[in-house]
Amino acid sequence: MAMWRTTGALLLILQTVSSQGRIRWCTTSDAEHRKCLAMSQAFAAVSIRPTLGCVNGVTVEGCVQKLQKKEADAVSMYGTDVYTLGKTTSFKMAGSESKADDTGASYYAVAVVKKANHAINITNLAGKKSCHTGKGRTAGWNMPLGYLIDQGYMSVMGCNIPEGVANFFNASCIPGANEAGDPASLCQLCVGDEDGTHKCEMSNKERYFSYEGAFRCMAEGAGEVAFIKHTTVGENTDGVGPPDGLLSADYELLCRDGTRDSVSNWRTCHLVRIPFRGIVVGTDITSSLVFGMLKEGLEKSGFNMFSSTAFGGENLLFSDSTTQFQPANSEDPKKWMGHFYYNALRAMDCKREDMLRWCVLSGGEQQKCGDMSTSFKRKGLTPIINCVYGESVTDCMNKIKNNEADAVTLDGGYIYSAGKDYGLVPATGESYTDDRDGSMYYAVAVVKKSSLDIRNLDNLRGRRSCHTGYGRTAGWNVPVATLMDKGLISPQQCQIPQAVGGFFKQSCVPGANQPGFPGNLCEVCVGDITGQNKCEKGKDLYDGYDGAFRCLAKGDGDVAFVKHSTVFQNTDGNSGESWAVDLRSSDFQLLCSQDTKAEVTQFRHCNLARVPSHAVMVRPDTNIHAIYGLLDRAQTYFSSDTGPEFRMFDSQKYTGTDLMFKDSTVRLVGVADKKTYEEWLGQTYMESLVDMQCNSSSAVMSSVWLLLLVPFSFVLTNLWM
Ligand SMILES: *[C@@H]1O[C@H](CO)[C@@H](O)[C@H](O)[C@H]1NC(C)=O
Ligand SMILES: *[C@@H]1O[C@H](CO)[C@@H](O)[C@H](O)[C@H]1NC(C)=O
Ligand SMILES: *[C@@H]1O[C@H](CO)[C@@H](O)[C@H](O)[C@H]1NC(C)=O
Repeated sequence: MAMWRTTGALLLILQTVSSQGRIRWCTTSDAEHRKCLAMSQAFAAVSIRPTLGCVNGVTVEGCVQKLQKKEADAVSMYGTDVYTLGKTTSFKMAGSESKADDTGASYYAVAVVKKANHAINITNLAGKKSCHTGKGRTAGWNMPLGYLIDQGYMSVMGCNIPEGVANFFNASCIPGANEAGDPASLCQLCVGDEDGTHKCEMSNKERYFSYEGAFRCMAEGAGEVAFIKHTTVGENTDGVGPPDGLLSADYELLCRDGTRDSVSNWRTCHLVRIPFRGIVVGTDITSSLVFGMLKEGLEKSGFNMFSSTAFGGENLLFSDSTTQFQPANSEDPKKWMGHFYYNALRAMDCKREDMLRWCVLSGGEQQKCGDMSTSFKRKGLTPIINCVYGESVTDCMNKIKNNEADAVTLDGGYIYSAGKDYGLVPATGESYTDDRDGSMYYAVAVVKKSSLDIRNLDNLRGRRSCHTGYGRTAGWNVPVATLMDKGLISPQQCQIPQAVGGFFKQSCVPGANQPGFPGNLCEVCVGDITGQNKCEKGKDLYDGYDGAFRCLAKGDGDVAFVKHSTVFQNTDGNSGESWAVDLRSSDFQLLCSQDTKAEVTQFRHCNLARVPSHAVMVRPDTNIHAIYGLLDRAQTYFSSDTGPEFRMFDSQKYTGTDLMFKDSTVRLVGVADKKTYEEWLGQTYMESLVDMQCNSSSAVMSSVWLLLLVPFSFVLTNLWM
């Protein structure tokens, strides 16, 4: 057996080698082809294996096509080509060209500030003055702007990046940003030549042009931050470069984590690492063979691979500034580029869309969506919103997947299935506070301060409970998962409602009016104002966050499972509702998962779970920055909950609450690094969803079924939250 395996593996290797006994290098010009033929001869002379052949692909695009058609095996190209061509074709990375510094990077894009300017860091560049090497250039434009957009610091509407830059920075010098349509502030800090002419030109006549110029622009105090490369400061300070007596110690780099560091620490403190040229091979080619061939050729053949003059060109096959080859850190082009580089290019790679089809789920939502569309249009916002009616949340997710709609706002439980079952990704999230970290809420258990005998969760046994609704996050999933975690309930055979019904004496769980559910889950509910529709989701007065809190405040329940802000919204005069006018927040307390109690203001430390906020979910091929760009601009006009204008985060005018967005939303935020549903939901919350898979002794239900289907069917059984 062992021997057979060895032989089999050997055969496999031999086959691979023989089919790749010759590597056909693809050339992109006649000059390059001449160099390739010479290199091939030099390699053959010292018997390098595999042998090297040459195929003329005319352009790098032509070469990638030849790779697809298996008419060529390898080609070298710039990182930007790897990005662009990798969007539509598949290939593997076999290595990188590298300079002597061994980083495999052509350089690092950095943000430099004066050390004395203490207040500035990467998180607060909005409203500052900026210096750039030039419009469209890598270190001064594509990388820093791509980074700022990708991280959600800067937003761009309708793919108009110059306008986005002008809205973000107070003023800038961006040589070349004097084209038709470019806002004037992009050239405002430029100075031109000695006579003040040629201002903002993309040439050395503009004194603030290119790396040195952008650094000078900041050093002379015209701008506060310069977007340059990691070597620029060293090349222009401490007696090097022009004699202006500048000292490198007077400058610092802005790091991605919000800190700052000395200019020599660019390896760890930079915005984006820009990969050098890469060696690309077809998907069926063993990349290590190609890399080995190049490496051996470099060592043995004596052929000067990094010189082009003899063939009448520059950077032929390889860059003339390359000194060695580096193995690829990954065959996957995306990983090879590095995710900051990839994401920056992706953020700048914006194709203007005319229309955004929003999936709506009720008459009220459709009305609000229509008003939103009209109001956005009136302000000239793009893309235009179209409203598409969905029968249910799953119908919306299906429509988006099938490209019949583009976006829908979803709650955590649905985000899970939207990501897992429909492949959707978050485009922007709601924030219920003013800060960027506010894109979360906390699920809390609220009790009255006067309930002295309730000291921990265990004390809730045999009491009355108020829930936002069956299957909802803060009102059901999280508290049930917590009770299970603590061993306070142990549902048998997926009988979670029965277990909860057995734990509490009585409850109001709107939506639990289902056949087979314990009747006491609805006993505390009161129905609508006419007393009808008791325990109906969306209709019972005790439904939702406010309803569950009302149930507690009225004394019908001993605990309410809501979110941290529910208390503040309904107390201290913040609610005009008659049942809430006299409530004081200090009369309530929280039960912590650590079995202690705390004041309602302590929700960050005393909660049942930190819950990811609702997110707008889209297909993965949607440009999320264009969606955030639209909504971020829109919220500068429409985020107020008062005034005559359309109100994005208010539903009073329509039938229903939390239409399109939750009414408690303060602002929308970019998703930054939370680009997948898993990243958005976060580890802890995901675990609480997985916890909800009920353990069953039934042999029919395999653990795979439980893992894959229960969280989803759990959600499916429920109405729109
Ligand atoms: C830029 O900053 C100055 C003060 O430094 C302020 O007067 C001006 O309004 C700002 N401009 C913009 C477009 O924010
Ligand atoms: C960045 O500046 C802001 C103030 O604008 C400050 O709140 C934050 O703490 C700073 N970040 C770091 C890491 O120092
Ligand atoms: C469910 O099963 C897992 C492992 O199979 C176990 O760790 C967990 O405690 C069980 N939960 C309940 C509520 O029985």
